[in-house]
Amino acid sequence: MTIEILTIFPEMFDSVLSASILGRAREQGLLDVRCTDIRPFSAAKHKNTDDYPFGGGAGMVMMAQPILDAMAAASARLPDARRIYLGPRGRKLTTEVARELSKEDSLILLCGHYEGVDQRALDACIDEEISIGDYILTGGELAAMVLTDCVARFIPGVLGSAESPEEESFSDGLLEYPQYTRPRDLDGSLVPEVLLNGDHAKIRAWRRRESLRATLRFRPDLLETAELTKEDRKILKELENECSSES
Ligand SMILES: C[S@@+](CC[C@H](N)C(=O)[O-])C[C@H]1O[C@@H](n2cnc3c(N)ncnc32)[C@H](O)[C@@H]1O
Repeated sequence: MTIEILTIFPEMFDSVLSASILGRAREQGLLDVRCTDIRPFSAAKHKNTDDYPFGGGAGMVMMAQPILDAMAAASARLPDARRIYLGPRGRKLTTEVARELSKEDSLILLCGHYEGVDQRALDACIDEEISIGDYILTGGELAAMVLTDCVARFIPGVLGSAESPEEESFSDGLLEYPQYTRPRDLDGSLVPEVLLNGDHAKIRAWRRRESLRATLRFRPDLLETAELTKEDRKILKELENECSSES
């Protein structure tokens, strides 16, 4: 997959894209991420990319011209790319959205700054706006990094063969069970016995129960849409009873 990121701060991406799993995926040619600086596309004398908002008000707005020209150059390189603007009004980034985007051959991500982007540029060259949450960032760069990272996890081969993006929190609509590693005894705090006995059916059952427990405790709203079996519902009843007898 190829991702081209249009930004006025390309240097922000250097360490994120070269370290860890993303760095390895790029080295292996599974993911090609390029950052394109919007500034050189500005036709303004001092290569500025922002101007005062019409109608007044605080802050500056990113001008349409440099963005349209940068997008035209990126689209010429990646004619079939889905063009996404990272912005707070957009469709919320979820596991489902990341899985969907990972099926594209290429994406072009536009990062806004200041008070945002001249609406006419967005109308002319963006297929979709995506938000990473109900809060305001100073710029779209962090959002583009988040999107790139969670989309990359769904590209075949990016995670090691033993790992699966389908076994994480949210992948089946539930949160993940707790994880443990050595030592077995941490100053008297012990790893649950069931994880040590090698009985995989019991481990699976324990993990499912703990996954339901974590979801009930931290994100009960997820239970409304998660795919639950009859057995899951029975366990949830038991967990609810446990909670009410504790309180
Ligand atoms: C300070 S914000 C602009 C916020 C805008 N004035 C508003 O109130 O909706 C600057 C840039 O950060 C990015 N941004 C801010 N919050 C975001 C979010 N939740 N998700 C994705 N991008 C975001 C967008 O690219 C935006 O153009």
